Amino acid sequence: KETVVSGIRSTGKLHLGNYYGAVKNFVQMQNDYNCYFFIADLHSLTTHPTPADLHGNIKHVLVEYLASGIDPENSTIYIQSDVPEIAELYLYLNMNAYMGELERSTSFKDKVRANPDNVNAGLLTYPVLMAADILIHKATKVPVGKDQEQHLEMARTFGNRFNRLYNTEYFPEPYAFSYSDKLVKVPGLDGKGKMGKSEGEANAVYLSDDPETIRKKVMKAVSDGGPTEENQPKPEPIQNLFDLMKVVSSADTLAHFEDLYSKMQIRYGDFKKQLAEDMIITTAPMRERILDIAKDDAYLRQVAKHGALKARESAQKTIREVRSLIGFKSF
Ligand code: TYM
Repeated sequence: KETVVSGIRSTGKLHLGNYYGAVKNFVQMQNDYNCYFFIADLHSLTTHPTPADLHGNIKHVLVEYLASGIDPENSTIYIQSDVPEIAELYLYLNMNAYMGELERSTSFKDKVRANPDNVNAGLLTYPVLMAADILIHKATKVPVGKDQEQHLEMARTFGNRFNRLYNTEYFPEPYAFSYSDKLVKVPGLDGKGKMGKSEGEANAVYLSDDPETIRKKVMKAVSDGGPTEENQPKPEPIQNLFDLMKVVSSADTLAHFEDLYSKMQIRYGDFKKQLAEDMIITTAPMRERILDIAKDDAYLRQVAKHGALKARESAQKTIREVRSLIGFKSF
């Protein structure tokens, strides 16, 4: 079986972007692959969370993984910081990661622009830690959303560079994966870009949002005055709402509103109402499970412990072999 690795940063509750870009594929992949799904808590340290926030956010992701249907008996679910071998591999890979290429990464440049007062070394070497996450289990498939594509390319670069340096074919090449023909990008509700945690509460619909909250957010989503000509291309905010409908609604529902739009008969009130109801239908079962699982700390502790053991077994094997390739030996 091929090995799969993916993770989500512990920075808050999961939204529809995380679900359709990543977690939905995780759930589907667990039967066909040897899967490792983790909570990227080390990655979340770049923004300096308080200990209490950090712990709460790790719990959110763990609970929501389980509520989405990831089965801890089938997949290995673990917390990144429980596997110190990842940090060790990160150190080795850092020796072959160059300033220039790290500075050119799109996500680094975006973060610098958004937060010029916190350009720390952890942020610069974020793609190296991500490569370590993937290479530690020698994974070949990485289910992620569109925004992670460049990071995967960097992971291949760092793995290949290690192979060349030590004249080995030790690390296989990891590729971004999605069951849909393209990597997914779920837009937000602000009419501008992707759904994200940092773009503000109202931009994202969370798996744990109750129906009333979802209705309110969707009804307030940015739209416009409506089409002014037949068969007109859609402006970005409208296209975004259609893209959201494409992920949560049936093909018939989507076709129905596409048709109304092209005939200039669409009423955004009805369109948004339908979109909100379909979001509620897809998230409701997960929301109920989130509320239940979050109460069961003993179960969460057991899942995290079991996952850490399994993940460490695989990671320790890699680190043993990597150390030997590098040339560390006992006297
Ligand atoms: P993060 O925590 O930002 O997002 C987690 C996953 O959700 C996907 N995603 C989206 N997909 C589609 N549309 C959106 N609007 C959207 N927003 C988020 C992301 O593509 C991602 O798959 N660097 C990673 C975490 C990470 C990782 C790894 C992933 C660390 N190490 C190793 C895979 C393998 C990140 O920041 O994701």
